[in-house]
Amino acid sequence: MTPERFEPLAKEIFALKKQLNAVILAHNYQVPEIQDVADFVGDSLGLAQQAAQTDADVIVFCGVHFMAETAKILNPNKIVVLPDKDAGCSLEESCPAPELAKLQATNPNFWTIAYINCSAAVKALCDVIVTSGNAEKIVNAAPNDRDLLFVPDENLGQWVMEQTGRPMTLWKGNCYAHVEFQREQVLAAKEQFPDAKIMVHPESLRAVRELADSVCSTEKMITYCKASPAKRFVIVTESGILHRMQKECPDKEFLCAPVFNVMKLPTDGCRCSECKFMKMNTLEKVRDCMKNLAPRVELPEQVIQRARRPMERMLEISAKPIENAG
Ligand code: 13P
Ligand code: SF4
Repeated sequence: MTPERFEPLAKEIFALKKQLNAVILAHNYQVPEIQDVADFVGDSLGLAQQAAQTDADVIVFCGVHFMAETAKILNPNKIVVLPDKDAGCSLEESCPAPELAKLQATNPNFWTIAYINCSAAVKALCDVIVTSGNAEKIVNAAPNDRDLLFVPDENLGQWVMEQTGRPMTLWKGNCYAHVEFQREQVLAAKEQFPDAKIMVHPESLRAVRELADSVCSTEKMITYCKASPAKRFVIVTESGILHRMQKECPDKEFLCAPVFNVMKLPTDGCRCSECKFMKMNTLEKVRDCMKNLAPRVELPEQVIQRARRPMERMLEISAKPIENAG
């Protein structure tokens, strides 16, 4: 339920939604009040799937910039707005398209796999896109006679290599927030709560992933927690996800890493469980972007055309049953 102080804004947003025939898509890391007005809340894969099938005229994308671009690639004729155009991503920043093109030129046999956390210009240079929810499946389906190049997250790439046994050249990018999680913090939480299941996002460091009961995307974390008989979970990803977890599993306890009260380490001012980019969006900015139909995502026609194929390839492979994925 939306807290009272947000009700007037939520009402305005619902009225605008009707008037514009808009759909509001929100990532699992958005603040609770944004999640509560959204038509769909999910991970990057779920959001891309929703964007691909919407019949709304306006897409209000509450996430970060590359996600709104993805919606535009899939819907070139629709209006796509986002609450804050400066909501970027350290992974996107780490991989400028001209740098990638230079590396690709060194090996014509590269098959380039891009994590969805990259710019539209980078997507346009790639063969296929992945999210953390389908990366393993998509890498397994990559052609056997090509040299795999994975951009821009080296931690996700490393994890996918471990899962698939496929060697890949990895771009040296990372999520500035997930690499802050430390092994000692998770070990301390395990010691304090031996009954808790440890859920880790694959953007985290290997030393942290090794301690996990499950390494998975944000959506799969929610599915796992719902299905698990366990009553307590330590969540090693962005804290926004706790809102859905608590809502959908009211009888379970979710502890956001680092679990401050169990730490023997200095924790003052540690914000590693918050993505500053995801947290740039506010409910007020959601209302304003709907009112003004701005900021709006605009992309060059050529970029849309080139980026569409790897996006569609991802959606096609994702939809196939596992045994047919290859
Ligand atoms: P998923 O929600 O797809 O797991 O991605 C996490 C993330 O960091 C998005 O930026
Ligand atoms: Fe990018 Fe990391 Fe923020 Fe996700 S959590 S949007 S990967 S900076």
